[in-house]
Amino acid sequence: MLTNIILILAAIFIAKVAILALVFKDEIDAAMERDPAAGNRMVVILTYAGFHAMIYHRIAHQLHGWGLRLVPRMISQGSRFLTGIEIHPAARIGKGLFIDHGSGVVIGETAIIGNAVTIYQGVTLGGTGKEKGKRHPTIGNNVVIGTGAKVLGNIRVGDNSFVGANAVVVKEVPPNSTVVGVPGRIARREGRRLQSADLDQTHLPDPVSKALQTMQNEIRRLEQEVRQNRENREPREPKEKN
Ligand SMILES: CC(C)(COP(=O)(O)OP(=O)(O)OC[C@H]1O[C@@H](n2cnc3c(N)ncnc32)[C@H](O)[C@@H]1OP(=O)(O)O)[C@@H](O)C(=O)NCCC(=O)NCCS
Repeated sequence: MLTNIILILAAIFIAKVAILALVFKDEIDAAMERDPAAGNRMVVILTYAGFHAMIYHRIAHQLHGWGLRLVPRMISQGSRFLTGIEIHPAARIGKGLFIDHGSGVVIGETAIIGNAVTIYQGVTLGGTGKEKGKRHPTIGNNVVIGTGAKVLGNIRVGDNSFVGANAVVVKEVPPNSTVVGVPGRIARREGRRLQSADLDQTHLPDPVSKALQTMQNEIRRLEQEVRQNRENREPREPKEKN
């Protein structure tokens, strides 16, 4: 009896893994290609939070497409509880998305993600809080979004672009570019490195110390003028003779 139960459970498990391997082939391939630590396909299927989040999202997205609202949101929230990744059921995601590590990823309702995109932990594809309707970003194909990056508003990140770790991107990113920093600046385009000296965010001039310096110079100049006037007015005393 016990042997039969074990056999049935094993058969269910193998069937489930086989179906997942078939239906989510692109996502498993993506993890195998882009994560040197992946090891084998079984590891991805059984242990990768980003992969699990995609399974829940596909189910929630399908139900959302059929007009259901509450059940997809419950699936999405359950997925967030289990994986630390929150994807709105309405978000449109292409093939081969790889969410590495996962925790803290948020993908908003009107976000659109192309094919073969990589997203690291702590990424937000969110709204600015000022827009309505389509208010989340559109991410092109083959884009990599580094850990902690925030891409905000109805903007497009072009194909084959990189968003650096911890960047805050609020403007369009052309294809084949690298955007870094806060606010995001294009550091590389079409493989060519762009100058950043004029966009230095850390060595900005201090207007208060500049004003104080100007005042100090003016005081010095006035002091000198007064001293000179005094010297011109007072005749020098003749030197005493021995
Ligand atoms: C942006 C990134 C992809 C590098 O892209 P790249 O096109 O090779 O860019 P470069 O290394 O040539 O750097 C270009 C400029 O951006 C700066 N830069 C690179 N990454 C940066 C970052 N995350 N934040 C701020 N500036 C960054 C460089 O210092 C350089 O500045 P400079 O032009 O003033 O010298 C990479 O640095 C990065 O952030 N990857 C994310 C990886 C990640 O999240 N891993 C998580 C693993 S768990």
